[in-house]
Amino acid sequence: MTEQSNVERKKIVYSGIQPTGIITIGNYIGAINNWLGMQDEYDCIFGIADLHALTVRQVPAEYRARATSFFAQYLACGLDPEKSILYFQSHVAEHSELAWILNCYTYVGEMQRMTQFKDKSAKHEDNVNMGLLDYPVLMAADILLYQTSLVPVGIDQKQHLEIARDIATRFNNIYSPTFTVPEAYIAKSGAKIASLQNPSAKMSKSDPDPNAAVSIIDDPDTIMRKFKRAVTDCEPVVEYREDKPGVSNLLTIFSVMTGRSIDSLVEEYHDTGYAKFKADCGEAVVEKLRPVREEYLRLMDDKKYLADVAAKGAERARRIAARTMTKVKKKIGLVLA
Ligand code: TRP
Repeated sequence: MTEQSNVERKKIVYSGIQPTGIITIGNYIGAINNWLGMQDEYDCIFGIADLHALTVRQVPAEYRARATSFFAQYLACGLDPEKSILYFQSHVAEHSELAWILNCYTYVGEMQRMTQFKDKSAKHEDNVNMGLLDYPVLMAADILLYQTSLVPVGIDQKQHLEIARDIATRFNNIYSPTFTVPEAYIAKSGAKIASLQNPSAKMSKSDPDPNAAVSIIDDPDTIMRKFKRAVTDCEPVVEYREDKPGVSNLLTIFSVMTGRSIDSLVEEYHDTGYAKFKADCGEAVVEKLRPVREEYLRLMDDKKYLADVAAKGAERARRIAARTMTKVKKKIGLVLA
C-alpha cells in the first residue's frame, strides 16, 4: 500500500465574503477566528465574492480598492496561503460558467421565494436586477465547483446553502453523482456579536451608523471611542443577562478577545461602573487586533506580494474547478473542447 492511500483526504471547506462595508469584529469573532483553527483539519478555500457584490451598484475605483483591502485583511487575520486557498472569485471564470449551467436546473419560483431576495429587492426597488435573483445560484456554483463538504454559514445564509444542496441533489439525480452535497458547518464556538448602538440587532458590516460596528483594522483611538459610546442600560452593574443585551454583548467581546471567562470578568467589573468596564473592554480589543492591523498595513504596502498570493490562489482554485467543469460538461452532453 502506498503512503498516499493511507492518508485520508481532508474534507473541503468553502466560504466566501462579499467585499462590501467593513470586516467587523463580529465577522472576526463569529467566523474568521474559527476558520484559523480549521486550516489544519480541512482543505479550506476562502473566496472574496466580488461577483456577488455586483448585484448592488459599486463605484469602480472604490470597489477595486475595497476588494484588495478585504483580501489583505484575510491574510492579516492569519488565513494562510500555504495552508488554504485564498483568491478572488472573479479570477476563476468557472464560477460564472457553472452558475449559467446551474441556472438551467433552478426554478424561478425557488429564487423568488428566497428571504434575502425579497428583503434586498424591497431595499433596492430601483435596481432589482437578474443578479439579485440569481445570487443563490452563483453561491451554489462557488460551493459545488470545489466538491465542498462543509460550508460555515451564519443563520442568514442557511437558506442559500439549502438551495445549493437542492441543486446538487437534483443534478446528481438526473445524471449520476457529480457534486458533493455540502453541509452546514456549525462552529464549536461562534459567538454572535451585536451592534454597539443597538444591541438587539446583529453587528452588520454595512451599518450606516459608524459607531455601531468596529472594523478589525480601525485605529486604536477609533476603537476606544466606539466602545466608550457603546449603548448599555441604566442599571450600572456588569452582569450577563438577557435583559442587559448591551452589557452582555460587551462581556462576550471582552471574553473572546482576552480568553477570559465571562464569570471572571463579571467578578472583576460587577461594581466598577460602566465607564471603566467599557474602556477596558475597548483596550482588550485594541490589543488583540494590534498585530492584525500592523500586518494589514504592512501588506497594503506590498501590493506585489498581494497580487502574487491572489494569482497563486486563483491558479490552485482553477485546477479544482476545471475538473468539476469537465465532469459537468460531459454529463450534460456538451461537446468537449
Ligand atoms: N453570500 C455570502 C454572504 O453574503 C457570501 C458567499 C458567497 C458565500 N459565496 C459563498 C458564503 C459561498 C459561503 C459559501 O455572506
